[in-house]
Amino acid sequence: MKSLAIVILTAAAAQAQTASTLKDAFRGVFRVGAAVNQAQFEERDPAGGRIIAAQFNTISPENVLKWQAIHPRPDVYNFEPADEYVAFGEKHQMFIIGHCLVWHSQTPRWVFEDADGKPLTRDVLLDRMHDHIKTVVGRYRGRIAGWDVVNEAVNEDGTMRQSPWYKIIGDDFLLKAFQFAHEADPQAELYYNDYNLENEAKRKGALALIRKLKSAGAPVTAIGLQDHDKLDTPPLRQEADTIEAFHALGVKVNITELDVDVLPRTARQNTADVSVTAAGGAGSNPYVEGLPDEMQQALAKRYADLFRVFLEHRDAITRVTFWGITDGDSWLNNFPTRGRTNYPLLFDRQGRAKPAFDAVIRTASQ
Ligand code: XIL
Repeated sequence: MKSLAIVILTAAAAQAQTASTLKDAFRGVFRVGAAVNQAQFEERDPAGGRIIAAQFNTISPENVLKWQAIHPRPDVYNFEPADEYVAFGEKHQMFIIGHCLVWHSQTPRWVFEDADGKPLTRDVLLDRMHDHIKTVVGRYRGRIAGWDVVNEAVNEDGTMRQSPWYKIIGDDFLLKAFQFAHEADPQAELYYNDYNLENEAKRKGALALIRKLKSAGAPVTAIGLQDHDKLDTPPLRQEADTIEAFHALGVKVNITELDVDVLPRTARQNTADVSVTAAGGAGSNPYVEGLPDEMQQALAKRYADLFRVFLEHRDAITRVTFWGITDGDSWLNNFPTRGRTNYPLLFDRQGRAKPAFDAVIRTASQ
């Protein structure tokens, strides 16, 4: 009888120590968030909605604030979905992120052309950028707390990406974008966001870029490391070095689009460039019937390892955001190869917490 009581008490004490939600487990350390899709913030996915409300204290919009969604034609803004996204975040008292203002992908071609289809001049494109930022950031001023101002401006080799923004405006397009965003909402946090910054050449290029922006007075609050990861890459040492290198420039570091792709590689290089597509050959979609236990455990270990690195760098990191809620939601079911069955997140297709979820929660109390 006595020993049974002890067992019960011990179990209760253990449970009290281990928080059961992500936002509680890391409270006071960093915010934990997720990218939400339209079905979720329009409350058409009640199961997803429940997970979001219970687990996260910050949200990012998976698509609705991208240029092609919110500003599809020169004189047409489509604010309704973004309004709903922001209202959803407020209802759940979330730290609301805007993603993203200036990017080369998911941006209509007309943005860079005049009425005759000719490339714009620098001044006209700057005006257009200014109008867009002023309109979108201004509309959500004081409500969207942080913006990805520029997304993915650096190439893998560290040189500047030859995007239409860069080619038409020149390399001060980033400085201008940060200035315009700051003007439109002086209180908002402003971010530079990119993938593969863990790779040395790209990291060096991005470090030089941020150094230059800072010395020109650009109001950069934080760097977003997208962290579209694989089981074996980037190595933990590289992840840690990258966080430290950006933090040393006097900016915070956010993990903004975390997921771990468990499927065989089909593209030539590891990339999160949304324009890349790859055919899926034999064996490229091996887990249609379910993820084998050893893979489930490997994913859990990978997530725990990553979160240990994030925890070790808690002075630099203010937010860790997953790119989706359940495995069924993930863009990685269609990128870079369409129609595969991937398992990159902490919740399975039925919305149940996976071993990776428990492994992440445990790191908080270790
Ligand atoms: C992805 C979305 O998840 C998909 O739904 C969409 O089809 C393409 O874009 N880097 C980013 C995100 O900054 O905006 C991308 O999101 C994933 C890669």
